[in-house]
Parts: sequence; structure tokens; C-alpha cells
Amino acid sequence: MTAATLDRQTEATADHSSPALEAIDVSRTFNVGGGLFSQGKLLRAVENVNLRLRRGEVLGIVGESGSGKTTLSKMLLGLMRPTNGEIRIGGRSINGIGRPELSRLLQPIFQDPYSSLNPRKTIGQIIALPLQTHKSLSSANQTKAVEAMMAQVGLPPRLIHSYPSQLSGGQRQRVAIARALMIQPEILICDEPTSALDVSVQAQILNLLKDLRREFNLTYIFITHDLGILEYIADRVAVMYMGRIVELAPARQLLAEPRHPYSKALLGSVLTPNPHLDLPDLNLGRGFPDPLNPPTGCHFHPRCPQARPDCSTTAPTPKRDAQGLIECHLFDGEAA
Ligand SMILES: Nc1ncnc2c1ncn2[C@@H]1O[C@H](COP(=O)(O)OP(=O)(O)OP(=O)(O)O)[C@@H](O)[C@H]1O
Ligand SMILES: [Mg+2]
Repeated sequence: MTAATLDRQTEATADHSSPALEAIDVSRTFNVGGGLFSQGKLLRAVENVNLRLRRGEVLGIVGESGSGKTTLSKMLLGLMRPTNGEIRIGGRSINGIGRPELSRLLQPIFQDPYSSLNPRKTIGQIIALPLQTHKSLSSANQTKAVEAMMAQVGLPPRLIHSYPSQLSGGQRQRVAIARALMIQPEILICDEPTSALDVSVQAQILNLLKDLRREFNLTYIFITHDLGILEYIADRVAVMYMGRIVELAPARQLLAEPRHPYSKALLGSVLTPNPHLDLPDLNLGRGFPDPLNPPTGCHFHPRCPQARPDCSTTAPTPKRDAQGLIECHLFDGEAA
């Protein structure tokens, strides 16, 4: 199949009026700690998540370690099946989309590109790999396409014959981005793509992702611990806590005026000296609960400075309003 036929075929199947990416009531549980004679316990890593991304939109996802961000991103990438619910791309269920087309529609960029770059292949070979499965180009044209993409992501041409071990962390992340963009995906799912990099390189990679978004009208899911990054790159932000989206709002609004007590605690944490490391102590008195024994009622209530008696007995239901989504009893009286 030629590149042109593949492009036409994808064009024909993509419905551009549908959201680029949707999660509909998506949940994922894991059975953990089971042995030969014991059943194990159910860990709810992601619970009833609903998301709709418009084409060209950047949705940031933030939350403490263990809140379910990576599990959600694996389901959005089709690498893991939800226990319940459905993922849709361009209005079509992900279950009906074959692997080659899926990778043409959406590509991941992970935190540690080193582990996903084959140490025995040159940078040129690594970046060209998606072309070999998706487009039948002559080897001269492949080299041209690789050179053009390397220039686009700011990799010096001389690195085409180098191996991953000979590159800096920032250069390796650029290789991973170049490889992901080689077949012009519509959606990039970035899981902590800059957290392994030092601050100045982080800024360069963020600028690059921002420029590429404008150039290719890319849709991004951007997972990070760093709220400063979201302020820079995201249109909307979803805050996850124990597998649930507890608040979703336009980035500017959420960062200026968070509504959920958990979002407020996260935002307060940015004021610590090094927001680029991990999420620091949230000053909530208690740490993250055991996901195998989640608190009753609202999962956040034991740490919530504004908890009321009903928070420990009744789980709040998500409320959608003009500003987005909020799941907290404090907003019970407001428009559903
Ligand atoms: N394959 C698995 N088997 C059992 N439990 C899992 C598995 N994958 C994830 N979990 C559990 O699911 C929960 C969510 O994990 P996940 O990796 O999605 O969190 P995260 O938000 O990405 O965290 P981090 O910020 O540390 O990357 C955690 O309690 C984790 O231990
Ligand atoms: Mg993760």
C-alpha cells in the first residue's frame, strides 16, 4: 500500500465532526495479592472516567503518584483494555481499529525514552522505523524524510548515524518525539515527557511540543506532576484522585481558582522550592490512602480540610456545569 492510499483510507474513515478522543465511563480494576489459594483484592486504578477531547486540544492530567494517570493513558492508547466503559477515537470504538491504523491515529511519548529506543539501532534507523510499516518509500526518500524530521525537532544532522547511548537525555526525548511524529499521528499521549530532563532542556522540549501542535493541529493528552507545565501548554486540566477525575476545567481557570479542595492542595504544593521534582508533601496531614482499602464516601475526605459529615458516608456525584466538572459535596447545591 502506498503512503497516498493509506492517507486517503484514513481520511475516509476519520469522522472530523466527532471528538478526537473520548473515554466513556471508563474503569480499570486489577486483582492484586492473589495466590494459589487466595482470591486477592480488587484495586480500582481508574473509576468511571469521562473525557472528550476536541481536535487540536491539549488536555493536561495531573494527580499524585498512584492516582491512575498511566493506567488511563494505556487504555487511551489501546495498550490496555478497560474493565468497563469504552474508548472512542474520531467517534469509533478503539476495539474496532486495527493496530497499524491505531498507531497512525495516536502515538505515545513516555517519560523515559531511553528504554524504548533500541540501543543497537542508529538514530536514523529508529526514526525511520514507523515509515517501514506504514509507508512504502524508497530508501533515499526515507532518509530525506528522517533528515527533515530531525531538523523539525532540532536534532543535529550528524546524529543520524549515532546510537541512543551517545545522546543526551534531551536529544533522546527529541528522537522519541521525531519517531512518534513520523507517520503524522493526530493525537499524542505524553506521560511525563519532560520529567527526566533538567529544567532548561524541559523548556526546550515543551516549546517544541507547542510548536509542533500548532504546525500539525495535534491533539495532546499531557500527563504531568508539574502544574507549571500545564499552565504553559494545556487548554483544559483534569485533576485525578484515586482513579477518579475530581475536577476538570479550563487550565487558566483551574490554576487561578481551583474549586475542589484537592486541586487547591495540589496548587499550594507548587509554591515549594522545586516543583519539577515529584509532587511534594501536600500538607494535608495524612498521606495517600491505601488503594486496596479506599476511604468510604468521598475518597478524599480523610485528607480534606473542608470535609463535612456526609463526605465520609456518601460518594459525591460528578456535576457538570459551564466551567467543566466537579465532584465534591461542597458543590452539591450547584447546577448539575
Ligand atoms: N498492572 C498492575 N497491576 C496491579 N496494580 C496496578 C497495575 N498498574 C497499576 N496498578 C496500580 O494502579 C494504581 C494507579 O497506578 P498508575 O500507574 O496508573 O498511577 P499514576 O497516576 O500513573 O502514578 P505515577 O504518578 O507514580 O506515575 C496504583 O495503585 C498502582 O499500584
Ligand atoms: Mg504514571
